[in-house]
Amino acid sequence: MSGRLAILASGRGSNLQAILDAIADGSLGAGIVGVFSDRPDAAALQRVAGPLRWSADAKSFPDRAGFDAALADAVDALRPDWVVCAGYMRILGAPFVERFRGRLLNIHPSLLPKYRGLRTHARALAAGDAEHGASVHFVVPELDAGTVIAQARIPIEPGDTPESLAHRLLPREHALYLAVLRLAAAGRLAERDGHVVLDGQPIFSPLLLDSTGKLLPVPTEPK
Ligand code: GRF
Repeated sequence: MSGRLAILASGRGSNLQAILDAIADGSLGAGIVGVFSDRPDAAALQRVAGPLRWSADAKSFPDRAGFDAALADAVDALRPDWVVCAGYMRILGAPFVERFRGRLLNIHPSLLPKYRGLRTHARALAAGDAEHGASVHFVVPELDAGTVIAQARIPIEPGDTPESLAHRLLPREHALYLAVLRLAAAGRLAERDGHVVLDGQPIFSPLLLDSTGKLLPVPTEPK
């Protein structure tokens, strides 16, 4: 079994919902072992049954390390194969990242390495970019700096605002995360020496999501 998923979420949980729906309709061969939040009032928690929920108010811990350790122990206790950040808005400290390294994933709403951090839609617009997108990457201690597994691209259109871009990108984010999680849950995805490894072979540039929700064939040569 490679499909035990622990989900970390801070907000509304639309990515979590897409995962739940895909599990329910049989298009993702995985199971959610727990949903974890740094915000006890996160809407994401309400999307799963009570026994699957874990939350603690990060502000009630003396420091980040204390909260991260409690979170890590709670996650680890459920023996997940993958720890999936889905709108988890709190920076994970190095000890947490190291504990789950190689099986800790995040989705970020930009074409990394562009626009790490916040306000990605506004920054893409301000830069005059012709396209925008989302990236699923392995998490490393440096924020949004881990190896990118796959990306979804959308064109930026005249009149776009940060809100319109975010709105148009969100369904592509859902499709992107699901496509990557299918690989992960099937035991086809790993990280080795800073490279994404797919079916035992390193890949040298991110996979690309096509319009049907499939990841494009893997380039086999270094760029
Ligand atoms: C998504 O845009 C994701 O890329 C970003 O936070 C948002 C989470 O949305 N990291 P949701 O909570 O899954 O609806």
